[in-house]
Amino acid sequence: MAADHVRAVLAALVMLSVCEASGLGPAAQGEASEEAAWVEPWDGSVFQPPSPLGAVGVSCQPGAPRPEQEETADLPVLLWWSPGLFPHFPGDSERIECPRGACVASRDRRMRADLRTRALLFYGTDFRASEAPLPRLAHQSWALLHEESPLNNFLLSHGPGIRLFNLTATFSRHSDYPLPLQWLPGAAYLRHPAPPLHERAEWRRYGYAPVLYLQSHCDVPADRDRYVRELMRYIRVDSYGKCLQNKQLPTARLQDTSTATTEDPELLAFLSRYKFHLALENAICNDYMTEKLWRPMHLGAVPVYRGSPSVRDWMPNNHSIILIDDFDSPQKLAEFIDFLDKNDEEYMKYLAYKQPGGITNQFLLDSLKQREWGVNDPLLPNYLNGFECFVCDHELARLDAEKVHAASFGDIPVPEPHIAQSSHMDCPVPTPGYGKVTEIPENDSWKEMWLQDYWQGLYQGEALTAMIHNNETQQSKFWDYLHEIFMKRNQNL
Ligand SMILES: *[C@@H]1O[C@H](CO)[C@@H](O)[C@H](O)[C@H]1NC(C)=O
Ligand SMILES: *[C@@H]1O[C@H](CO)[C@@H](O)[C@H](O)[C@H]1NC(C)=O
Ligand SMILES: *[C@@H]1O[C@H](CO)[C@@H](O)[C@H](O)[C@H]1NC(C)=O
Ligand SMILES: *[C@@H]1O[C@H](CO)[C@@H](O)[C@H](O)[C@H]1NC(C)=O
Repeated sequence: MAADHVRAVLAALVMLSVCEASGLGPAAQGEASEEAAWVEPWDGSVFQPPSPLGAVGVSCQPGAPRPEQEETADLPVLLWWSPGLFPHFPGDSERIECPRGACVASRDRRMRADLRTRALLFYGTDFRASEAPLPRLAHQSWALLHEESPLNNFLLSHGPGIRLFNLTATFSRHSDYPLPLQWLPGAAYLRHPAPPLHERAEWRRYGYAPVLYLQSHCDVPADRDRYVRELMRYIRVDSYGKCLQNKQLPTARLQDTSTATTEDPELLAFLSRYKFHLALENAICNDYMTEKLWRPMHLGAVPVYRGSPSVRDWMPNNHSIILIDDFDSPQKLAEFIDFLDKNDEEYMKYLAYKQPGGITNQFLLDSLKQREWGVNDPLLPNYLNGFECFVCDHELARLDAEKVHAASFGDIPVPEPHIAQSSHMDCPVPTPGYGKVTEIPENDSWKEMWLQDYWQGLYQGEALTAMIHNNETQQSKFWDYLHEIFMKRNQNL
């Protein structure tokens, strides 16, 4: 689902990045962004098959100046090893202008061993340890973009996996290019007025429940359905998605939408009839927050949330969401929801952040202000291009430091290696949504899938680290390494 989001961002930026890189003025960019608003959601057809090497520099207009080949010849190259995310169009290479200087972004894998190729860029969801480019070359940084759910690749949730990378852009505030607010367009999105309570009271008379659940991805690491099923014993929940479904969306058109992702106005209007939205992320990691959290707030509903353990840090004030983990049991939570449901004054306190001056969390406001990229905002760069420039600047600085080192005949030391940390993907071991792991039978699908996957991720990171350490280049041996690690672990159990 988040992948669709990235792709939509990409599609909207296809026009912009083309202009940006060829250095046209703001007027031309404005035109491009107007067009960008009309670009269809990305369906895979926007990108063309790779074209031959050498298509460096793309211009917006036939008459626009093209960067000279000589000028680009010596620039550091950033190679997108995950070619699907290459944020330029058309062609395989593009000169990019960044605050510190220029680089060439490319997705032509023939550049892999080139001395000019200073960084390989990976997309976390696509990264496979068994396909990693080996041997790892000492002069190249590995840069990771992984803003999606950790469930897409548990390799990265463990120290050995994440430490393979030098630079990261993840949902964590601790990553090098942090994206925790990637799903929040801005403060105004939160301030959007809530529907009057009497309207919602009216819907209740039509038989609506106080609580909404809308989930179609059912078996996930956070095991949310096990919790919601229990909660449903104590309070009425209308569930419209495939998970725990007990109601149908009112019109055939809405039933037809992939509801959980859409920003369809008719669907949003429908959802806003509910006072409480169950908002449970598919995986639990610090700073992993998605539209499941922000959308109910936009609609003036109170999220009943389980997800990022550090979510409080990002809330508009300290009384805007209900945290599931504050309650000892689903029953206690249900009692509290029921209490709020019957006390308008208490309920409205949860929406106080919508009033002027109601957003009191300066950290949130500063974070929104300081980020240089936008969400669904064709006037701002997207974070793909932003991350690319971040890596470009980092590599230019590293090159400079290497030159200073060489010119000093070794007096000034080589730049320190920069290595990613576990905190860049801070995802603890998945736990059951309700109850204890020992109480859940071994053949439970959650236990079979996610716990196994999670630990497999650790072994994969270890196997790849060992291969790099041994300068082992034959990918086919990866499975032998993995097997060896797995057997050792089993013996120690
Ligand atoms: C929450 O905000 C209120 C009002 O601004 C303040 O008095 C209170 O101390 C805050 N509580 C916490 C836990 O930060
Ligand atoms: C990149 O990280 C690796 C560890 O994964 C480290 O050995 C290497 O020195 C780092 N390279 C740079 C350029 O910082
Ligand atoms: C799991 O095992 C129990 C007994 O061992 C059995 O009754 C149950 O049907 C099994 N469930 C599944 C999903 O296979
Ligand atoms: C690693 O292997 C490559 C290719 O097999 C070789 O060229 C290189 O010298 C090796 N590096 C080290 C540090 O042994």
